[in-house]
Amino acid sequence: MSILIKNGQIVTAAETYVADIYIKEEQIVAIGKHLNYKAEKVIDATGKLVFPGGIDPHVHLDMPFMGTYSSDDYETGTRAALHGGTTMVIDFILQTQGDTLHNALKTWQQKSKDKAIGDYSYHMAVTDFNDKVAKEVVQIIEGEGITSFKTFMAYKGALMIDDGQMVQLMKVVEKHGGLVTVHATNGDMIDSLIAKNRVEGNLSPLYHYLSQPEVTEAEASGRFTDMLEYTNCPGYIVHMTCEGALNAVRRSTQRNQKVFVETCTQYLMLDASLYEKDFDGAKWVMSPPLREKKDQEALWSGINQGLIQTVGTDHCPFMWEQKLMGKDDFSKIPNGHPAIEHRLEFLYSEGVRKGKISLTKFVEISSTNSAKIFGMYPRKGTIAIGSDADIVIFDPKKEHIISAETHHMNCDYSGYEGWEVTGKTETVILRGKVAIENEECLLKAGNGKFIPRGKTSKTVI
Ligand code: URP
Ligand code: ZN
Ligand code: ZN
Ligand code: ZN
Repeated sequence: MSILIKNGQIVTAAETYVADIYIKEEQIVAIGKHLNYKAEKVIDATGKLVFPGGIDPHVHLDMPFMGTYSSDDYETGTRAALHGGTTMVIDFILQTQGDTLHNALKTWQQKSKDKAIGDYSYHMAVTDFNDKVAKEVVQIIEGEGITSFKTFMAYKGALMIDDGQMVQLMKVVEKHGGLVTVHATNGDMIDSLIAKNRVEGNLSPLYHYLSQPEVTEAEASGRFTDMLEYTNCPGYIVHMTCEGALNAVRRSTQRNQKVFVETCTQYLMLDASLYEKDFDGAKWVMSPPLREKKDQEALWSGINQGLIQTVGTDHCPFMWEQKLMGKDDFSKIPNGHPAIEHRLEFLYSEGVRKGKISLTKFVEISSTNSAKIFGMYPRKGTIAIGSDADIVIFDPKKEHIISAETHHMNCDYSGYEGWEVTGKTETVILRGKVAIENEECLLKAGNGKFIPRGKTSKTVI
């Protein structure tokens, strides 16, 4: 298959210019003005933005969590992602405590192999660290193309490791060129606040929020950066929500550390007032919770200051029926919300159009930086000769309204129902194949490829 995209405004993390792109098989073969290759398909992109396919560094597909499973699997989840212009996702493999990393890897390979429509990779979550697991970490970095290891400083009894395990893991990962990522909140503090609220009969979703105050995230983020400094390990903090946590990273830069930070669209757009809507607030029960307006300001600034490198979604959808598991007790509401589909449109509409970020910054945080940090650049994350032809053709003027009626995620509600968005993903190309056209997904389950990743020690960002 060959495709010629004519006259679009190409945007990369570095620049923007009008040109044509010629694609043959899976890759970009030529970029220039007035290209006259004969192509099987010609797309007129006049007036449209043309940027690299989005990479969502944080999703949970078909994940066992809090007594249930997230409601999007690899097929529905990567399809919804493609509809919004995200051509690749990085999902989380969860080690079962007491079991091996390799068993968990096998389970996730089965979930994804014949189902993924878009491309994918995994972060390996280490939930139980010991000498045997240390050996597996090395095998996974060297042999499986998985170079990022997720840790949880919360969810004790299921996912959390202690600081001793964290430091040991960091030492192994550092030695072999990988990266440690973290859900940085103080699990013990949160558990005691949850217990106190339950005893006092404070059981509505609002108390989910009140059980995870900003300090629980700021403290853990600071502790994580301290452990990184001690071990000299590269680190990445996922789903950062607040000013206090960002300041912990800012302090680490004052002692010359570089710590990567991710935030998510919901923390840039929504705030904690949504928890005042009685049980409806369960739609936004996620961890960490939504914060305050001042935190949104801090996060947008953090993006522009280069302290925050990526914006993911932490897509972890549950049907309303699943959310009702916690109707009498906020601590039983499965944590997470549906978001994988609209990340690019939200970042464009709320960020670029409202003057909060530039077009090149938009590409940097939605695609390029994830490719660089997670060892896939320049195969992924840019528009360049020789890169995979993962391309979004985006109509910057088209207005549309977000609704559960029209979204493609397997979730019967939207946390953004009625939200007006300007800018829409129009055509999506994945490794040289048209994936989305006229609002339809043209690719089938099994099309998505596992993308092996390089070492973080070779990352330049
Ligand atoms: O609420 C959330 N974020 N659910 C998914 C698991 C996690 O902590 O990322
Ligand atoms: Zn849309
Ligand atoms: Zn988390
Ligand atoms: Zn998550």
